[in-house]
Amino acid sequence: MVSLLMDPIQTIARKRDGGALTKEQIATFVHGYTNGDIPDYQMAALAMAICLRGMDSQETAALTDAMLFSGTVLSKSVDSPPHVDKHSTGGIGDKVSVVLAPLLACCGVRVPMISGRGLGTTGGTLDKLESIPGYRTDLSIQEIRDTVERVGCVISGATAEIAPADKKLYALRDVTATVASIPLITASIMSKKLAENLDALVFDVKCGSGAVMASLDDARSLAQSLVGTGSRLGVKTVAILSDMNQPLGRMIGNAVEIDEAVDVLRGNGPDDLRSLTLALAAELLVLEGVSGTIGESTTRLLSQIDSGAALEKLREMVAAQGGDLNAARERSTATDWCSAQAGFVTKINAGMLGRILIQLGGGRRVLTDRIDRSVGLEMRVRLGDEVQVGQSLVRVFAPRDQFHRIETMLAEAILIGQPPSAINPLILERVEA
Ligand code: URA
Repeated sequence: MVSLLMDPIQTIARKRDGGALTKEQIATFVHGYTNGDIPDYQMAALAMAICLRGMDSQETAALTDAMLFSGTVLSKSVDSPPHVDKHSTGGIGDKVSVVLAPLLACCGVRVPMISGRGLGTTGGTLDKLESIPGYRTDLSIQEIRDTVERVGCVISGATAEIAPADKKLYALRDVTATVASIPLITASIMSKKLAENLDALVFDVKCGSGAVMASLDDARSLAQSLVGTGSRLGVKTVAILSDMNQPLGRMIGNAVEIDEAVDVLRGNGPDDLRSLTLALAAELLVLEGVSGTIGESTTRLLSQIDSGAALEKLREMVAAQGGDLNAARERSTATDWCSAQAGFVTKINAGMLGRILIQLGGGRRVLTDRIDRSVGLEMRVRLGDEVQVGQSLVRVFAPRDQFHRIETMLAEAILIGQPPSAINPLILERVEA
């Protein structure tokens, strides 16, 4: 009893004073917090100490490991094909997962994707998929396992058994100003991803006005932490840093993003969305030795789109999860928002576009908000495009009265003027262990 009372205080004090914690200290603390022996106020104190003092790569891996083993790890048979996944740190218009999971499943790997909901300005894959009539995102562990085995891919929400320490800690961090910490973010993301029992993992770390990490330095630090932790814990891991100074693809919303993902699987859709998806998927095929090079992997992936196999795989996954990809998805009334002046698209504030979607009801302010999946935005221009007076810049899918409420926000989100001094490439950097 004495050690239970003493340990948490000593652990907090050690981190407060800038010391490194041992694997045992971290494991004991996380275990105690998960089972209720350590109260929220002590966990909050430790989280704040970690926020201020940081953690080295060994401590971050130990924290990830402790949070991972606070819950269940998906089982897989010994002769199973490689299990792979992608994680994005969240961006505006990011529907990559919906294209990538079926595409990879057609290439001999399995994708047990446990995904999340939107909060803040970035949308969530589960919210988008729920615009498909009937689609279930609340599969049990057994259903997730069965669907991956049978179909090759699944996209569902985390169950209560997956990383329960993270569930508790994330809610606490949210209200104690301790979200913005690279070791805490790393352990939170990795503990849930590694519960999928992966062989390889690729990260899409977004950087720019619509991303959690606005600067390249911060995005790089997070990528290095994620990749380093993955490697320490025995999972082949690579990260791509991608630009988020404008939305990915044209569509921002829920049903409209599923429509766009389907377009890509039909061989159409916007170039940026297709090329980022192919780049991320190709990394995984190379990591697993399915193809020798990125070029070979890309050819293999494209052939699955061209043959229609990848779209068929998405249809199969949706059906396995209770949905019907052919059933009509709701789309609200379209109204064009047009340019009041001639010039060039100088700047796009992607984060503001995310806030506009929330204002329309297409995203959440708090987790309990209900989402209107029929609203959305279609970007009709990209950075650097020349525009004329009266040209449509954004097509808004929303009831008319809602449209009028967001017009001033749109004027803040898209600046027309001089050509931008530089436009970042979509893929900024690649980070490996
Ligand atoms: N996403 C997570 O799952 N955890 C974090 O801490 C931040 C983003």
